[in-house]
Amino acid sequence: MDKRRLAVFVSGRGSNMQSIIDACKDGRINGEVVVVISDKENAFALTRAKKEGISSFCLDPSRFATKQEYEEKLAQAISEYAVDYLLLAGFMRVLSPVFINAVRIPILNIHPSLLPAFTGLHAQRQALEYGVRFSGCTVHFVDQGVDTGPIILQAVVPVYPDDTEESLSQRILQEEHQLYPQAVQLLCEGRIRCEGRKVIITKEEQKVE
Ligand code: GAR
Repeated sequence: MDKRRLAVFVSGRGSNMQSIIDACKDGRINGEVVVVISDKENAFALTRAKKEGISSFCLDPSRFATKQEYEEKLAQAISEYAVDYLLLAGFMRVLSPVFINAVRIPILNIHPSLLPAFTGLHAQRQALEYGVRFSGCTVHFVDQGVDTGPIILQAVVPVYPDDTEESLSQRILQEEHQLYPQAVQLLCEGRIRCEGRKVIITKEEQKVE
């Protein structure tokens, strides 16, 4: 099977993006990150991508008159790189249904909570304030809602009484770095399909081409 072409959208540090690049490089993922796009000029993720020799640039939404024009530019960039899948990795922007329908490729996101709990911003802080004993992270398909798409994989971490937002975020992040590459690997092997909201993961020998 040909290597899948991956685009990654980022806004910041890019540690999840790095974990995916690393998994592509060492052969765990049958894919290649061919373009990285940030909505922030100073995102460290862009520095990481350049170091890896990956095409990467910023598309700053403030330079576009409307969200629609911005998203048209994003969609155009993706189509120029002929990507198979779009991965959101700490991309702190909600993509509109128009964009999601226009790109016509599966879009994945990683979120630092056990969805459907604690959607949106500051998921780790929300978990601490709620007083849950366990939290974690979720890789899911992006649909038209915010953090509402079909769930592919989840990982659980304990929440301790003396946790701070920082300590919990760090514990969750370690799991994110395992979980996201694993989900992308399954996707690139054609082992994921949706039945309504449910994501079915086929066994290795039953790969769907
Ligand atoms: C990660 O914790 C990711 O789950 C979260 O932002 C962080 C990005 O870190 N994403 C969201 O909260 C999306 N709503 P990274 O830039 O080092 O990958």
